[in-house]
Amino acid sequence: MIHASAPGKIILFGEHAVVYGRPAIAAPVSQVRATATVTPAETGVRLIAPDLNTAQWLHEADPNDALAAALHHIRAATGIEQLPPMTITVTSQIPVASGLGSGAAITAATARAVVEFLGRTDLLTPAWVSALTYEVEKIHHGTPSGIDNTVVAYEMPVYFMRQQPHNRIEPFAVAHPLRLLVADTGVRSHTRDVVLDVRRQWEAESARFEAIFTGCGQIAETARRAIEQGHIAEVGRLMQENHDLLVEMTVSSVELDALVQAAVSAGALGAKLSGAGRGGNMIALVTEDMETAVRQALLTNGAQTVLTTIIAHNAV
Ligand code: PMV
Repeated sequence: MIHASAPGKIILFGEHAVVYGRPAIAAPVSQVRATATVTPAETGVRLIAPDLNTAQWLHEADPNDALAAALHHIRAATGIEQLPPMTITVTSQIPVASGLGSGAAITAATARAVVEFLGRTDLLTPAWVSALTYEVEKIHHGTPSGIDNTVVAYEMPVYFMRQQPHNRIEPFAVAHPLRLLVADTGVRSHTRDVVLDVRRQWEAESARFEAIFTGCGQIAETARRAIEQGHIAEVGRLMQENHDLLVEMTVSSVELDALVQAAVSAGALGAKLSGAGRGGNMIALVTEDMETAVRQALLTNGAQTVLTTIIAHNAV
């Protein structure tokens, strides 16, 4: 039996603008994970997702199904036409459609477990897992920037810029750990729809949207330096500025704005929505002293769950 997992993620700075080539910063949320288990079977390839209440044979699955698509890409990459009989069970603690990268984590975990089961551990590099996850993300997200699959596969905070022929992926130093509360509005929102709507607005008002995206990119760049130098208060201020630009893009919501406002009123150093928006999660930057008060404020203002994640020293 083989197990593999991959973490959730948050976007600290630059969501949406990153689709248009501006830099962004994202980090893994390691305490919520997707896990894939592969066991040998008598016959066929069975895909089981208990959280989604689904169980299907690979040969009967819709090729656009994310798990089936991951298997097809693995088959192409390994050159193994006929996969050996196996049962793949996928579970996830990451809420779906909430901006925490659940789809990317499920694909990455599945790719790792299946490739190991096939004895192709040579493929188990973050770059390979990230590239395969990106291919699957394209089915559901249209034009993903590549930031989700990168953070989930590398499992470290990254400064990311979408570019040809290779994306810019840079780990950076974290001089002072960032303590973040991640609060879920409980409102589900599909990244593809929100990204498409931003594209429609950009097409209609390209000069205004280009200026907003450039503003987000500058914030991400300044934030990287502030994180590297340990200027926590500045990081919080920049989160606030980024949230205001996301409001201008119309990707915030009543629920997200209420949580951002509640966090700041309770003393948070800064707060913003994280991910595609119009639902899903927001993040608030806190110190240990104020954490309890901000958590309480989030819960009394509509948060369904609040978890703490700490972005600390980068491994590379
Ligand atoms: O998957 P989400 O909801 O965290 O959103 C990803 C971030 C976007 O910038 C909105 C889209 C992308 O592909 O980068």
